[in-house]
Amino acid sequence: MATAFDQPAFHAYGLVDGNDALLAYITLYHIADELEIINIAVRPDARRQGLGWQLLDHALREEVKLGILTMFLEVRTSNMPAIRLYERAGFRPVGRRRGYYTAPVEDGLVYEKRL
Ligand SMILES: CC(C)(COP(=O)(O)OP(=O)(O)OC[C@H]1O[C@@H](n2cnc3c(N)ncnc32)[C@H](O)[C@@H]1OP(=O)(O)O)[C@@H](O)C(=O)NCCC(=O)NCCS
Repeated sequence: MATAFDQPAFHAYGLVDGNDALLAYITLYHIADELEIINIAVRPDARRQGLGWQLLDHALREEVKLGILTMFLEVRTSNMPAIRLYERAGFRPVGRRRGYYTAPVEDGLVYEKRL
């Protein structure tokens, strides 16, 4: 079975606790000088402690070393924690995809960061 991990463009970073249990992860696709963040998530009991920011900042710094110039992502219009996180990291809204998300249906905001 092929998985995303078999694709050279797929990159994943994680944070673990003292018992090697996953606290947070971020996944992205890196193609040429662009990347798209697929997801970032912090374990519910570990949120609001700076881990999401730490992980996002670390992953983006590593990707910049690999030649990234432009970064994109989509986020639900109602996902205020993620929107705040991305805006704090320098992402700016550049578009809206109507009905992009399902269950429940919701628009997606497209965010971009250019170096
Ligand atoms: C979004 C998410 C990754 C943030 O992780 P986190 O570790 O809680 O975030 P941090 O503690 O590092 O906070 C960093 C910044 O994010 C923003 N933020 C995080 N949680 C927030 C909340 N509940 N309300 C408002 N802003 C929030 C703030 O700007 C914060 O900076 P500040 O502490 O200086 O105010 C986490 O809420 C999560 O896993 N959500 C579910 C998965 C998800 O929606 N992922 C995004 C998919 S697009």
